[in-house]
This record gives sequence, C-alpha cells and structure tokens, in this order.
Amino acid sequence: MNLFSFIKERISILDVVNEYVTLKRAGGYHKGTCPFHHEKTASFTVSPDKQIFYCFGCHISGDVISFIAKIENCSQKDAAHLLTEKYSIELPSTLSFESSEISTEQKNHYFAICKAVALWCHEQLLKNPPAQSYFQRRGFGSEHFNYFTLGYFPSGNAGISDLLYAMKRQSILPRDLVEAQILAEGRTTLYSPFEERLIFPIKDALGRYCGFGGRTFKEHDTRPKYYNSRENEYFIKGSLLFNLDKAKKSIQETNTIFLVEGYTDCMAMTQQGFFNTVATLGTACTVEHLKQLARYAEHIFVVYDSDNAGKMAVLRLTELCWQVNLELKVIMLPAGEDPASFLLSNKGDFRTLIASAEDIFHYFLNTLGNNFTSKPLGQKLQTTRAFLNVIAHIPDPLKKDILLQKAAKTFDIPFQSLKQELAGIPEKISTAEQKHHPDPKAVAAPTEETISLLEKRIFCAIMNNMGLFSGEGRCRLIRYIQPPLQDILAQLKELKEKSGNITFGSFFDTLNERDRQYVSKLLLEEDEIVDPTAFDKLLGQLQKKQWKSIVQTIKTQLTRAQQEGDADKEALILRDFMELQSKFTASHHD
Ligand code: GTP
Ligand code: MN
Repeated sequence: MNLFSFIKERISILDVVNEYVTLKRAGGYHKGTCPFHHEKTASFTVSPDKQIFYCFGCHISGDVISFIAKIENCSQKDAAHLLTEKYSIELPSTLSFESSEISTEQKNHYFAICKAVALWCHEQLLKNPPAQSYFQRRGFGSEHFNYFTLGYFPSGNAGISDLLYAMKRQSILPRDLVEAQILAEGRTTLYSPFEERLIFPIKDALGRYCGFGGRTFKEHDTRPKYYNSRENEYFIKGSLLFNLDKAKKSIQETNTIFLVEGYTDCMAMTQQGFFNTVATLGTACTVEHLKQLARYAEHIFVVYDSDNAGKMAVLRLTELCWQVNLELKVIMLPAGEDPASFLLSNKGDFRTLIASAEDIFHYFLNTLGNNFTSKPLGQKLQTTRAFLNVIAHIPDPLKKDILLQKAAKTFDIPFQSLKQELAGIPEKISTAEQKHHPDPKAVAAPTEETISLLEKRIFCAIMNNMGLFSGEGRCRLIRYIQPPLQDILAQLKELKEKSGNITFGSFFDTLNERDRQYVSKLLLEEDEIVDPTAFDKLLGQLQKKQWKSIVQTIKTQLTRAQQEGDADKEALILRDFMELQSKFTASHHD
C-alpha cells in the first residue's frame, strides 16, 4: 500500500471537503457550490463511495489529496502531510514521508511550539478573571475565547516557569522558545515581550499556529498597545491574514470578504455574524494578501478606521488592486469609529453601510477630487496624473470609461483630454485573469471528445465493478477502446496480473494526476450504473462498431495500394486484414 492510499482509507472526503464547502446529499452523491470557480448553482459533486470529486462547471476533479493540493495551492505531498496532521493519522514507519527535508521538519516543529504556547496562553486566560473581564467589557465571551483560542500571557517569573514546565512535558525546551521568539534572554533570566498581554494567536491559511499578537489591557500600562511576533521564515506578515483559516468557508460560500485592520475588529465582525472577515497583522495590505484572497472570492469590502491613516491605507490599496481579479468596495464608518466600536455600540446598522459601500476606484476619485477646483494648477496636474496612472491598469474598458467620465466632471477636464492622456500610459498586464480558468492541460486528455458514449459507459461499468474486467475476451477489449481509456485499462490489466483482485481505490492511487482527473470526471458524469449482464451487450456493440471502422480504414488503404499499382502492399494489407478478421470472429464468440 502506498502512502496516499493509506491516508485516504483513514479519512472521509466528505469531512475534508465539508471544511470548505457546504455539501448537500443528492442521491449517491453530495453537492455544493464549487470552491474553484464562482457559481450560484451547485455543480461541485463528491462521491463518498469512490472518494473523488468533480465540478460540472469548471471540470476540476480528483481525490481528497488533490482537493487539498488545489485549494491550498500546495504540492500533493504537502497536502498528504497536512491531512495526516489534521486528522491525526499515525503513519506506520514503512510509509513515513521518508524524503521529507530537514526544513519541513523544522517548520513543523516551529508550528508545534506555537500551538503549544497558544494553548497554554488559552489556559492562562481561563484562569485569569481580570484578563477575561477586559474581553467581556468589549463584548467577547467564552465562545470567542474558544473560536479564536484567545489567551493571556501572565507576567513575572512565576508565569515563565509555569510555561517552561508545561512545555517541558511536551519536549519543548527553553532554547526552542527563545528561537521561536516567544521568550528572550535577559541578563539573568528569561522573559517574554508578551508578558501581561492578551494573546491573539495567528494561524496561517491552513490553521497552523505561527505567531502572536499581544495587547496591553491594563489602564496604567504605558507600553505600546500591541506587540506582534517578529517576522521569521514561517511568520511573514505580508502574506498572513488573521482568521483566514476559519473564515475561508464562509468566504467561499458568500463569495465575499471583509477586510479589517485590527484583531478586535475582526472578532467584532465575527461576533456579529460576519464570519468571512480577515485582518492584516498591523502592516499594510499587500498584493500577496490580495492574491491569496482572490483565490477564495471575488468581492472584498474594506472596512478600515475612518481616521486619516485608514483613508491613506485605502488609497494605497487602490494602487494595488488592479493586479488581482477582485472587486473592492470601501465601507465608510462614521468619524471616530473603528469596526469594533461601531458594531458593538449600536450606533447604526452595518448592513446599511454595506449596501452603500463605494467602489474603491470611485472612492479614490472622490478623495482626490476633494477641493480639486480650488487647488493650484501644478497640484491639479499632479492629482490628475496620479488618478490616470491608477486607472490605466483597470482591465475592464467599460469600467475605465465610466471612471473617466466621472473624473471629467470632478476635475472639470474634458473627457477626450483625459482619454488621450490615458492612452499615453503603458498598460501593465494583470495576472488576475488566470485564476478562474483552470489549467486546460490539467482538465482532460486531448482526445476526450472523440470517445464515444459507449466507450465511456463500458469504462465506467468496469470502474464500478472491477470484477467485470477479467478473462481473455474482456482484456482484448483494450484493443477496441480508444486512448486515454485504452492506456488506463492497460494499466489496470497489468496491475490485475500483478496483484490479483483490486479495488477501485487502490487502482485509482496508481494512476498519474492527469488520469486521475480524467477518471473522476468520467465517473461522476456517467452516473448510470451498468448492470453486469448488460455489460456483455455493450462490449459486443463496441466491437462491432470498431470493427466497422477498421474495415473502413483497410478499404481505403487497399484502394490506394491498387491505384499505386503496388501489388505487394496490397497483399500485405489483405493478409493483415484476414488475421484481424479471424481474431475478431474468435473474440466475438468467447
Ligand atoms: P483595539 O485598540 O483593541 O480596538 O485594537 P485593534 O486590534 O482594533 O487595533 P488598531 O485598530 O488600533 O490597530 C490595528 C492593528 O495594528 C492591530 O491589530 C495591531 O496588529 C497593529 N497595532 C496597533 N497598535 C500597535 C502598536 O502599538 N504596535 C504594533 N506593533 N502594532 C500595533
Ligand atoms: Mn480597533
């Protein structure tokens, strides 16, 4: 047994997919909206019996490991590794990830340390009423403590030695904690920058703990409000987003993301039922962040503070967002509010704000256009150019024109002049378009169209009942069926000769990625189960049909040989034909 089969036998594809997609039962299948393209109807189909999936919309297909590899954008091996961790699958020593590089081990060790520390801090919070009551005053109760694994890092030597003791029991050494930058070495003792702070553990998109935000919460505490983990190889603020691991499913289902700046903002949004909220980690939103988010949804609402810094952050975002296939809208909070304060104070209805959110480019234009007409000429030119430079990269020409029209009014410059100016700016090519069109090579083998329904039905009958594919006559079937089915059946024949009776699952695992995709697709498309007694009839039909086409080809060859006056060739073709004919008749009677 190989590693992938071992893993697949121990998990259910339904459980795994359900973390990303809400599935509903439909006959022998489960259906939901596809996480790989955006759709309203449920085309995404999972077969729990075969442990495969297929989307009738975008034609992506495969097994549970390729599902994870695709949705998490990682290799099959990483996906397998992830599943073993997530579902606590113990691998026998014969099947371990033998070639796993030292760096992967180090990485996993780092994640394990962060997780242990997060859980320890969580326990400390549950033991510390003052820390709890700070959260409670801001509207967060024990369900939020759990949902976000919130924590508290106690102060002083007692706290540190308690941590060291708890970690020791999990074979985590003080040196590990120092290396992970959770502890630091003082002159005589170890201390932590997180001491006496509330802890917001940060996980990557796969739910692996990789860093912390620590907030002061006592009135007399004059230190900076937040201490966030320093960046390291595994904790990169420019690509991580707080709560993305939990928000993913809701993001995919609503095709919408709320982007906020603070951890507490994100918690407040979640508390109000906006589970599809993520937060940056105290640094600006990057293209990397946007690209990640674009993998899950098309619409983003930016909900930043209404202060000047928040406005500047939105303007910076405008300059980036043309690079991704995302529609950004800006939600304007009343002055002096951040999302958390607004939501928890009942100052207004957030849903009204959502409805009146403004397209980010319009927001950009309005901000630039503020007091425009009273500005000196130099500034007017500068502002206009700044605007055009951003607009130039918008891939949608209609959207561009609408904005230009609006700009013409705002700046009081003729539309044609703006358009001319715009034409002079070299366009950059957006990388966005690719995502929603799956790699055509990966979807299906090239000759797929030429395969008849009959062949597909025969093939699916075999996949549904491996026992059908036995005996001399049936194996000869391989000759009549076209590639890629032919190659796949040839592989099955070989495997059967080697290891006797095999199941669909174990056969599936021996196929390469392209064939797996193809098989998943066929099986979920052809859901009609062929009765074993009808199988022979199908075979007969196929042989007859193929025989006719063979005869046709031979006739053409013969005519050509005759026209060329090549008697030797004619004889050769005839001899081959007789041989084929006798074989056909024989196979037709066994
Ligand atoms: P509250 O004050 O509890 O509402 O916190 P918040 O999470 O909403 O934070 P705020 O909106 O003030 O800031 C947004 C983010 O910037 C925070 O979540 C932190 O990641 C980061 N941040 C804020 N203040 C500091 C600071 O003093 N130092 C550092 N390093 N980061 C900060
Ligand atoms: Mn805040």
